[in-house]
Amino acid sequence: MFGKPARKTAMLFKLVILTLVTLAAAEDLNFIFNGFQSANLHLDGIAGVTPNGLLRLTNDTKQNQGHAFYPNSITFKDSSNGTVFSFSTTFVFAIRSEYADLSGHGIVFVVAPTQGLPGAFPSQFLGLFNESNNGNATNQVFAVELDTIQSKEFNDINENHVGIDINGLHSEKAAPAAYYDQNNGGLRNLTLISGQPMRVWVEYDGAKKQIDVSLAPINVDKPYTPLLSLNFDLSPILNDTMYIGFSSSTGSVLTSHYVLGWSFKINGQAQELVLSQLPKLPRTGGKKRSKLWTIGVPILSVSLILIAVYGLIYIIRRKRKFAELLEDWEIEYGPQRFKYKELYVATKGFKEKEILGSGGFGKVYRGMLPTTKNEIAVKRVSHESRQGMKEFVAEIVSIGQLRHRNLVPLLGYCRRKGELLLVYDYMPNGSLDKYLYDQPAVTLNWSQRFRVIRGVASGLFYLHEGWEQVVIHRDVKASNVLLDGELNARLGDFGLSRLYDRGTDPQTTHIVGTLGYLAPEHTRTGRATESTDVFAFGAFLLEVACGRRPIEAQGPEQHLILVDWVFTCWSRSNILEARDQNFGTDFVTEEVELVLKLGLLCSHSEPSVRPSMRQVMQYLEGDIALPELSVLGLSSSGLTFAHHEGFDDFAMSYSSSVAKGFSHSSYAADSTLLSGGR
Ligand SMILES: Nc1ncnc2c1ncn2[C@@H]1O[C@H](COP(=O)(O)OP(=O)(O)OP(=O)(O)O)[C@@H](O)[C@H]1O
Ligand SMILES: *[C@@H]1O[C@H](CO)[C@@H](O)[C@H](O)[C@H]1NC(C)=O
Ligand SMILES: *[C@@H]1O[C@H](CO)[C@@H](O)[C@H](O)[C@H]1NC(C)=O
Ligand SMILES: *[C@@H]1O[C@H](CO)[C@@H](O)[C@H](O)[C@H]1NC(C)=O
Ligand SMILES: *[C@@H]1O[C@H](CO)[C@@H](O)[C@H](O)[C@H]1NC(C)=O
Ligand SMILES: *[C@@H]1O[C@H](CO)[C@@H](O)[C@H](O)[C@H]1NC(C)=O
Ligand SMILES: *[C@@H]1O[C@H](CO)[C@@H](O)[C@H](O)[C@H]1NC(C)=O
Ligand SMILES: [Mg+2]
Repeated sequence: MFGKPARKTAMLFKLVILTLVTLAAAEDLNFIFNGFQSANLHLDGIAGVTPNGLLRLTNDTKQNQGHAFYPNSITFKDSSNGTVFSFSTTFVFAIRSEYADLSGHGIVFVVAPTQGLPGAFPSQFLGLFNESNNGNATNQVFAVELDTIQSKEFNDINENHVGIDINGLHSEKAAPAAYYDQNNGGLRNLTLISGQPMRVWVEYDGAKKQIDVSLAPINVDKPYTPLLSLNFDLSPILNDTMYIGFSSSTGSVLTSHYVLGWSFKINGQAQELVLSQLPKLPRTGGKKRSKLWTIGVPILSVSLILIAVYGLIYIIRRKRKFAELLEDWEIEYGPQRFKYKELYVATKGFKEKEILGSGGFGKVYRGMLPTTKNEIAVKRVSHESRQGMKEFVAEIVSIGQLRHRNLVPLLGYCRRKGELLLVYDYMPNGSLDKYLYDQPAVTLNWSQRFRVIRGVASGLFYLHEGWEQVVIHRDVKASNVLLDGELNARLGDFGLSRLYDRGTDPQTTHIVGTLGYLAPEHTRTGRATESTDVFAFGAFLLEVACGRRPIEAQGPEQHLILVDWVFTCWSRSNILEARDQNFGTDFVTEEVELVLKLGLLCSHSEPSVRPSMRQVMQYLEGDIALPELSVLGLSSSGLTFAHHEGFDDFAMSYSSSVAKGFSHSSYAADSTLLSGGR
């Protein structure tokens, strides 16, 4: 019946069919997702894809499930003889649980007849089946479960296993999660809920009817020996076309199930995932981390804030503590300016123990400069008004530049709000007054005293005449004479009283000096001159020679006026009687007499009668003989000194001021003050 042409057509037909089959085979499904950003998966339940491409099957929600399916159906069977093709898949998953040792419930790779698994239950049903259809052959489901809970009802082997499921949750074959080491073939356990990503391989050999399942940590290659190997023909189970995907369910523990990447191939080996391209898992996860974040971080930030606040307060306090006043005009005094901090350190914070003494202007502290190790004395003068400060500092600094062996060197100053600090060289032997009155522990012999007197005279003479400008000391007295290491007398505190003694209106001028050293015309006019300094020097001479204060209380209403007493001795022609008995008999009579007489002369109430410091020097050096006091009106008839009333006024104003609680210095004398004899 068939001719040659017919045979030819049949052969051609066969050829076309063959080509078609080959073509179909060439089009076998093959996909790879290194992250799911562009995967267009079919999602249901609580499944989702995170912005960075993680497939998140469950999202920390309890008793829930999520499914993710490849969007298209897949031909699993050879239409000519109805056998299931070989297929292969690999994916990376991670399970992140609320607790380190408890999770729920697992991840399943599933081949199912429908997209999604309608009617399925969460928890132990893994989102695959429900109570009524579990295990029913009509399900037509093949699955590989990664189960983290042991469900006795499905004969689970433990709470960390891998199982091959056919139509139901009672696994055909299962094994604890582990892998065979490539090197020695040893079995190594894995913990599914470790939170670490792991890789799974599922392969079906259509010819051998064999299912192989392996898993391994992400950094370990595919094991040579599969964890599970099962001979099972899937042909009766699967339909011609099927859907593939993942299912996950949660129970009562908050868990997130992630798939990081997935590849699949029919009739061949699925491509290996490119691990470097996989999306990163969230950094947080697990109980420990969350504790760190919910407790640790707030505590840390609060402590940081507290530290910052304390630091700021400290800095502000410190700034305030060491704040100084510095104005433009002071720039030129740079070298003379000290940093408050430096003085603070030098005096150990102005410690009580470092106080050398206190006078009318404030306390004097001993210190040591941290940089040069020089010993210093710091005088803290409180000063409220800033008026006249500029002139005063200018004067102090210029005087401070004076160098004379009988002056205390002023090293510099520092200015703060309401306060002026003056820095002097430290005088190791202290002030002269300590060696004179009130039965001193150490006293000075006559030659030492005479040397001190000549030293002070020389210092004062230098102030008055030795410099381009006349400097009035204003406060010559024993406590302002300091003794250096070699017992040289050095005059200190020059010009300081000017700080308080300022003003153009003589009516309101406040005179500052020390009672007993103030010349009568000084209190009257308020003007300090060279001769007011000489008057004070006279009082100082008598002080040193007699070892007594210019005014000494001898009872409640009784005062010994030194100048008066010496005058009395002199008028009795026994001036030596007035000398200090403490220096015994070892003295030069002429010198003592000279000093006492010179003291009286300098204390003369009439300024013009007082000698100048130049003359004082000449008398003391013996260059010129002291004139007879009687010639100058210092006679017993009392020509110039015969102002008894004035003297009584003085004594009275002194006692009343004591009663009012005035200190010996900084006393403003208003009454006319005359020194006199009887
Ligand atoms: N440079 C110094 N070196 C050593 N001790 C000093 C120095 N300057 C002052 N002192 C000590 O500090 C004490 C107090 O001095 P301060 O000048 O404040 O008081 P004052 O001389 O008694 O009275 P005034 O206020 O009238 O000067 C002095 O008696 C002296 O012992
Ligand atoms: C989980 O996903 C569901 C559905 O997308 C959403 O309603 C729910 O708020 C999510 N829960 C959390 C904790 O993210
Ligand atoms: C079914 O057909 C395919 C080719 O189409 C062949 O490779 C396979 O061996 C056949 N299986 C059976 C059971 O005949
Ligand atoms: C179980 O699932 C099937 C569909 O797979 C559904 O028809 C049935 O109603 C479900 N049973 C229950 C108890 O939910
Ligand atoms: C399996 O399911 C079908 C239809 O869903 C049902 O008719 C049958 O009774 C079920 N078999 C078992 C054993 O439950
Ligand atoms: C591995 O797991 C099995 C079962 O879970 C257990 O019996 C075995 O002791 C584990 N081995 C190691 C080394 O942890
Ligand atoms: C499987 O395929 C057959 C016909 O090929 C169809 O009748 C049946 O409904 C399919 N099963 C499912 C669960 O879709
Ligand atoms: Mg002083």
